[in-house]
Amino acid sequence: MDNQPTEILCPDRAGLARAAALLARGNLVAFPTETVYGLGADARSGGAVARIFAAKDRPSFNPLIVHVPDLAAAKRYVIWDDRAARLAAAFWPGPLTLVMPLRHKQHGRGGSEGGSDGPDGHKIASLVTAGLDTLAIRVPAHPAAQQLLRAFGGPVAAPSANPSGRISPTSAAHVLAGLDGRIAAILDDGPCTVGLESTIIGLSDGPATLLRPGGLPPEQIEAILGRPLLRPVPDAPLSAPGQMLSHYAPGAPVRLNGDAARPGELLLGFGAVNCDLNLSPTGDLTEAAANLFGHLHQLDALGQPIAISPIPDHGLGMAINDRLRRAAAPRTAPGAGPIHPTNP
Ligand code: TXA
Ligand code: MG
Repeated sequence: MDNQPTEILCPDRAGLARAAALLARGNLVAFPTETVYGLGADARSGGAVARIFAAKDRPSFNPLIVHVPDLAAAKRYVIWDDRAARLAAAFWPGPLTLVMPLRHKQHGRGGSEGGSDGPDGHKIASLVTAGLDTLAIRVPAHPAAQQLLRAFGGPVAAPSANPSGRISPTSAAHVLAGLDGRIAAILDDGPCTVGLESTIIGLSDGPATLLRPGGLPPEQIEAILGRPLLRPVPDAPLSAPGQMLSHYAPGAPVRLNGDAARPGELLLGFGAVNCDLNLSPTGDLTEAAANLFGHLHQLDALGQPIAISPIPDHGLGMAINDRLRRAAAPRTAPGAGPIHPTNP
């Protein structure tokens, strides 16, 4: 773990070069994406990836998403199919993660797969996939993320840049509040526009499956695929991994579907309600998604129980409700509970 103070870097030439150099030396760098800030490490270095788990205090090795700058880079690491091609063409770069079969590690030259990633071949550290034979991969749209990935020139493993189990970060200040002194640097480029983690689609095994609702509404994905996504049944322990895990949790208790604050509570509103903070006074789900984690951070700082207005369960509302259910779930030790792929 880093014992140095955390550097705050601007996304200019010098800042990007410094961030890339730190990554190349196996250090952790938080960087903005359009969804949330990620905590990046060189995905080919087991030691660097292990530092992610240590900095976040994540006791279990839940697999991580690998970030690459474009489709060509993604194809080096996963086995491509027609559905992936259509989804990538429609939504990359953007808030979509695809889980696909990992290419076998290649040593030295060769293979008919094309592409090479330097002397390491196609090596992704096995800690990234938690030993699975699938890989979660995404091409972020954020300009600073794009520039960092290109300056670094390799795959970057990155979970959200928050201590395990806490609210996800949508600004550099959120990252600093949770991880100051535990990571080498933060590339600060202001607030994230989408505000919810990427939607994760499983393509490795049978029909396309919604593994985690997120910043891209499932309806848009279904329109491109021309068929419904398989949706794991909520609360079925194996098919809906992590549904009951306490996560995104403020320090104080959270109560869902509150129409009004009870004595001592703060109300996080949605739509035309009397409240302490409003996710979207006009009832706009895109605005609510962008505000969700920032507003939770603000109310959390006041240390009182939080009630939250009902949110419609369609489009981005599905992902918002998923995060809110976890914020309200009974507390366990950080990271405890059924750790499975797709526990965000
Ligand atoms: O928007 C995002 O996705 C952000 C930004 C930084 O890119 N990242 C993020 O990462 O949310 P994280 O670690 O908080 O969530 C990654 C999720 C976890 O739920 C993990 O279980 C799942 O992806 N995952 C990773 N690899 C997987 C795999 N091979 N199969 C199934 N799920 C996987
Ligand atoms: Mg996370």
